[in-house]
Amino acid sequence: MPEDKNRVYIFDTTMRDGEQSPGASMSLEEKIQISRVFDELGVDIIEAGFPIASPGDFEAVTEVSKILKKSIPCGLSRHVKKDIDACHEALKSAERFRIHTFISTSPLHMKHKLNKSPEEVIEAIKEHVTYARKFTDDIEWSCEDGTRTNVDFMCKTVELAIKCGAKTINIPDTVGYSVPSEFKKIIETLINKVPNIDKAILSTHCHNDLGLAVANSLAGVTAGARQIECTINGIGERAGNAALEEIVMAMKTRNDLMPFETGINTKLLSKASKVVSNATGFPVQFNKAIVGKNAFAHESGIHQDGMLKNRNTYEIMTPESVGVKQTSLVMGKHSGRHAFKDKLTDLGYKDITDDVIQIAFGKFKILADKKKHVYDEDIAALVDDSLIKEDNVINLKSLKVFAGTGEPQRADMTLEIYGNIKQATEIGDGPVDAIFKCVKKLYPHDVKLQLYQVHAVTEGTDAQATVSVRIEENGKTTVGQAADTDTLVASANAYLNALNKMIIKRKKTAPDGYQVQKGHQQQKMKGI
Ligand code: KIV
Ligand code: ZN
Repeated sequence: MPEDKNRVYIFDTTMRDGEQSPGASMSLEEKIQISRVFDELGVDIIEAGFPIASPGDFEAVTEVSKILKKSIPCGLSRHVKKDIDACHEALKSAERFRIHTFISTSPLHMKHKLNKSPEEVIEAIKEHVTYARKFTDDIEWSCEDGTRTNVDFMCKTVELAIKCGAKTINIPDTVGYSVPSEFKKIIETLINKVPNIDKAILSTHCHNDLGLAVANSLAGVTAGARQIECTINGIGERAGNAALEEIVMAMKTRNDLMPFETGINTKLLSKASKVVSNATGFPVQFNKAIVGKNAFAHESGIHQDGMLKNRNTYEIMTPESVGVKQTSLVMGKHSGRHAFKDKLTDLGYKDITDDVIQIAFGKFKILADKKKHVYDEDIAALVDDSLIKEDNVINLKSLKVFAGTGEPQRADMTLEIYGNIKQATEIGDGPVDAIFKCVKKLYPHDVKLQLYQVHAVTEGTDAQATVSVRIEENGKTTVGQAADTDTLVASANAYLNALNKMIIKRKKTAPDGYQVQKGHQQQKMKGI
């Protein structure tokens, strides 16, 4: 890593802390796709999961570690040797990797969560940081609930963790309780009072319960921290984590006040946001800073007039700087494969295989037949659809829906299930209900529908719809997605996509009684 004193390292935890948002689970394929984008984006460290938590997390950290070109992969562990072993096992194929190990240090957590005295916590740090150091010299240590920790005790634990080999010291505002002035003071105190602090990089990890995660992180950097832990779109436990895109653009736009550099290629922020939103099924609010649909929209006449005269009147950064392009009419049904491929490169899809291009081109031809104007967003939606390849055992063969006033809504559906063709007709409270009932009849299952969401890709009544469906079964969740000009076909395919992913997930069970899921259920693991 460069030695520049103003370089701030970006540690992304979208696939670990972000995935702890209830319902935000990502499949292995999605994590690999996200990791490729993050690698290209210039994220310095990618926390890909918590390997001991579940076989899915272990596999994700293992596979992500194999594909990263520049970013350093990282796994999370408690102060438990088995956790640290699992991290090492999952990460070891990478040339360079980081083990992130944490323990609570606040009086509240030590007493009620860990049932440990401060002396026992000190012993645990000594034992486990030293143990982790056997596997790599890139150890990160975190004092969970740091902002509610006695600052003298924090100084003692930080000094010890550095002495045992930690190279990064992370200060989490676990419950999002701090405010910028206080967080800044904590970092300053550590810098002033911990004798060996120059041997480590200080890091921030702020949650957003009071909406202050980004402000607290930036206050930490102003005080001397040089790593920020964050997530794309700010996803994470409860109100989420500090949003990567906001942090990076704040430092870039107000470089006069915060003269720090990151390795982030900001032109890929918009793409990263879309990939994460698609994988989690969590929509990005329209007015979200940097990546929201309206972030660069100027509605009022006065603003539009000002913008026409000089963009600086109402624009503090350009949409292009975060990868938002003016939407353009791209192609029609006579456009060839070559032009299509060029368009994909233009839209930032560089590493996709010929197979995916072939599938996406086939879908494009069908779409161009149905839809008068095909826009960049349409192309992106159908490529994203083609990129998510699962081993589907259930596929939609045909669908007819009868909807409207008077008659009850009815769906006739044919599915191929494990190679067998099956047909059903169902009525429901609305066409979507009838469709989902058909699937349930043909493939009996007991999942709960947690989310059904329709989103129009572009303007107009002939717009493609992308449908997201999240389902839950025994604490496990999956998100399915599909795009089509027919909203009901997209609904059926999104539901089947989620179900196929659940079937794959069922096959993976946790080892050693660690039957752990993400989010609040993860609390069942001792010490979290
Ligand atoms: O919020 C938190 O305290 C964490 C730690 C595990 C770093 O996520
Ligand atoms: Zn956290």
